[in-house]
Amino acid sequence: MNPVYDKLLKCYESFRQKIDFKPEVAIVLGSGLGDYADDIRVEAELDYHEIEGFPVSTVPGHAGKFIFGYVGQVPVVCMKGRVHYYEGYPISDVVLPARLMKMMGAKILFLTNASGGINPSFHAGDFMLLTDHVSLWAPNPLIGANIDELGVRFPDMTHVYDLELRDLIKEAAAEQNIGLQEGVYAQLTGPSFESPAEIRLLHQLGVDAVGMSTVVEAIAANHMGMRICCISCVCNLAAGMTDNPLTHEEVQEAANAAAPLFRTLVTEESKSLGNVLGIKVTHLDSGKVLCEGPIAEVKEKSYTEVLEGNEAGETTAYYQIDAWLDTSVGNEYQAARLMADFEWYVEEEENPDISDEPVTSEEPVTSEEPITSEEPVTSEEPVTSEEPVTSEEPVT
Ligand code: HPA
Repeated sequence: MNPVYDKLLKCYESFRQKIDFKPEVAIVLGSGLGDYADDIRVEAELDYHEIEGFPVSTVPGHAGKFIFGYVGQVPVVCMKGRVHYYEGYPISDVVLPARLMKMMGAKILFLTNASGGINPSFHAGDFMLLTDHVSLWAPNPLIGANIDELGVRFPDMTHVYDLELRDLIKEAAAEQNIGLQEGVYAQLTGPSFESPAEIRLLHQLGVDAVGMSTVVEAIAANHMGMRICCISCVCNLAAGMTDNPLTHEEVQEAANAAAPLFRTLVTEESKSLGNVLGIKVTHLDSGKVLCEGPIAEVKEKSYTEVLEGNEAGETTAYYQIDAWLDTSVGNEYQAARLMADFEWYVEEEENPDISDEPVTSEEPVTSEEPITSEEPVTSEEPVTSEEPVTSEEPVT
């Protein structure tokens, strides 16, 4: 068997022996975002050391564990700490965690990272939504015999960063009044920061922000058919754009300062992913919680009503629901826990009318984005979404 796949399967078996949780969304926390995990209703944690063969990060600030739990209604696995190529791991180890989270059940990969801003309109502390990437220096994680069980030999990379997820992030940012830039991220290997000449070169290439992670994970996840989104915290202006020399401490400090807003954005976005995944509570009436989507049947539930009045004489009712559900995803059944806060204005207190219209995810998922004139002109045959003819020879 392919040794990379073999190692992945062994890690999966080791994980499954310890954890019985099926995430829908995988979140990777970048520098300074480690505390984000505090926003999760934690069900279980697993130290990377406890997974046989799993690569463990050596970078300060990248403590390593998986956290399993819920953000809103969404079951997530969150990586607190990731490994970087510059630590000396083979690239297949760098992307092993992303692959493992897909095997755990995650359909969406929500990446975060820290970057240096190259776009002259960016400021330290900005957030940037990735629209595309450049990774011409870090090795491609798919080099080597293709793992057919995961994906095709020549995967298309035209729409790595999912349009629907990007729209949701933009909506979440607007609702929270958080400014959001958009742009192209380049992964360089590090660990040295770039030289000013490299930054000028990247600027010429159309890169807006630069960092030392993410793209290889996104390539591996896209290979496996995951839906991907990424927000970068622009911690500093890149080398040569100011007179200040760059230090890891400065980057870490800037990431820490941006962390509260970043956390809000990640939390709001993660919650709304429940809609994308089709998890929604549609109705609450006479003690019944009805759910649609991957959640099939409520097994047990309880809820407590909290009534609160405001100065205008309006009463707000909150229902805190705690329900055990059977979820059916494909043929797999799993118990999952749903907790949600419901809020609506009560007009007749005796019989609160639940007017929450169900959140619909009716919009078709369009991964097709019209090709704009920005698309690079290729002198090759246009790449179609069809699988290319696979000879085992790498295309040069
Ligand atoms: N370069 C590369 N990686 C980074 C930077 C940078 O300027 N800032 C944060 N991560």
